[in-house]
Amino acid sequence: MSESMLNADISGEIIASFFPEPRERTEIFSFLKEVVDTYDADIAHMEVNPTLSKADIGKVLARYDFDGSVPAASVLTDVLDMMKHGQVQVTSPNYFGLFNPSTSFWGSVADFITGLYNPQLAVWSHAPACVDIEEKLIRYLGTLAGFDPLSSAGAFTTGGAEANCTAVICAMTRKIPGFAKLGLHAQVRQPVFYISADSHLAWLKIALQCGLGHDAVRLVDVDSAGKMDIERLKAVIREDQSNGLLPFMLVGTAGTTNAGVIDPLPELAAVAAEHDLYFHVDAAWAGAILLSERHAHLLSGIARADSFTLDAHKWLTAPMGTGIFICKDKQILREPFTVQTNYMPAGDDINADPYVTSIQWSRRFNGLRLFIPLAILGREGFSTMIDYQVELGLYLKERLEQHDWVVVNDTQLPVICLRDAQDRDVEPILVQVLKSNKVWLSSTTFGKRKVLRTCVTSFRSVTADVDHLVSQLNEARATLYPAG
Ligand SMILES: Cc1ncc(COP(=O)(O)O)c(C=O)c1O
Repeated sequence: MSESMLNADISGEIIASFFPEPRERTEIFSFLKEVVDTYDADIAHMEVNPTLSKADIGKVLARYDFDGSVPAASVLTDVLDMMKHGQVQVTSPNYFGLFNPSTSFWGSVADFITGLYNPQLAVWSHAPACVDIEEKLIRYLGTLAGFDPLSSAGAFTTGGAEANCTAVICAMTRKIPGFAKLGLHAQVRQPVFYISADSHLAWLKIALQCGLGHDAVRLVDVDSAGKMDIERLKAVIREDQSNGLLPFMLVGTAGTTNAGVIDPLPELAAVAAEHDLYFHVDAAWAGAILLSERHAHLLSGIARADSFTLDAHKWLTAPMGTGIFICKDKQILREPFTVQTNYMPAGDDINADPYVTSIQWSRRFNGLRLFIPLAILGREGFSTMIDYQVELGLYLKERLEQHDWVVVNDTQLPVICLRDAQDRDVEPILVQVLKSNKVWLSSTTFGKRKVLRTCVTSFRSVTADVDHLVSQLNEARATLYPAG
């Protein structure tokens, strides 16, 4: 069978079917140019919520049984239609939502180049340039946090959850004697770690992934500002110690998901030192402000952490799937992840192979999504974007307060949580605004109270978009509560 295929010499056909020839490529590129230009012109005016129903999506997908072949033009048209109408437009300037950024054009260029060459970053010798690029980025970001570039290290991850999971594995390896060899059998005491009750609850999943279980996650109360309560933290640690548990890690959140609040990092660092806890900072979103000369001081204390998480796919405009774990000492990563194999190319003592310093094995070159824009725009380009968004957040706060909304959280970062000045239920307001399909925001709880949550996430958002958001909120409230 395979012999007759070889005799028929169909190899050219196979190659051309997986990699179209120049004429077809030219057509595809001119189609894609049109796609990019249309996206750029339309994104500000597009409906922010999906308008395709499940049935509509099903109808499109029914065209694909994968037995037969569908022309490329039809496939691309269907896919783009689903992108335009089958998802929340998180890159819209009217998206004041979760930490999903507008992505830089350079991030998409990086994805294309990476897809084309498909470098394998598991070992340094397979992709030395790519591994060195990622290492340079990690050292640079670590330096902004105050880490020594000669000893710091890190790993690009799929996101904040993987970076935080990396931190737990590193912490267990460092602080639980025998853990790397025996796992949790190394200890009769239950290991526990501390985070604030307002932290991102992927920590619960991480505890499960690490074999610790949810009870290992000590959710420490926050104060009225939403920061971890230090006195409460000390009390919980003391209680756990006297109950025979094994505290091994403390996590500060720098930029909580619901309210953009930064835990008191210097005080947390002191508690970690006093109790010999591994200290990690989850700066998945707000870590970006390290690039801002004006605002980097908000993260002071981060230099005392053993490691921190910074997602380039949050405030740094990289496409989804770009998290970063950065640690102060390269041994932190080598201890848990080093394995010996006979089928991987041999490494050397100088260049760490990423597969022995991270959770992943095969590794995509996601760092390029940050390298290209950072190289082109420089720190200043990012800093200008970040500082502008911080100011836009303050502008939004002002506008809300002028219109009888009460801002309930106190942060200099552009996450604004609000309630109605007369304490009317905000949930119907949210439903009404989302129904208009012109802006996107969400709700959360802050201080046990239901509030609306807005966040400036798009480098495309300007003051007019903020005005529009406020007028949408005002209109919805006036419609629902006419007497007020
Ligand atoms: C503070 C914080 N940490 C961690 C995460 C999880 O990151 P990811 O969704 O990239 O895994 C998030 C997500 O929003 C977050 O806000």
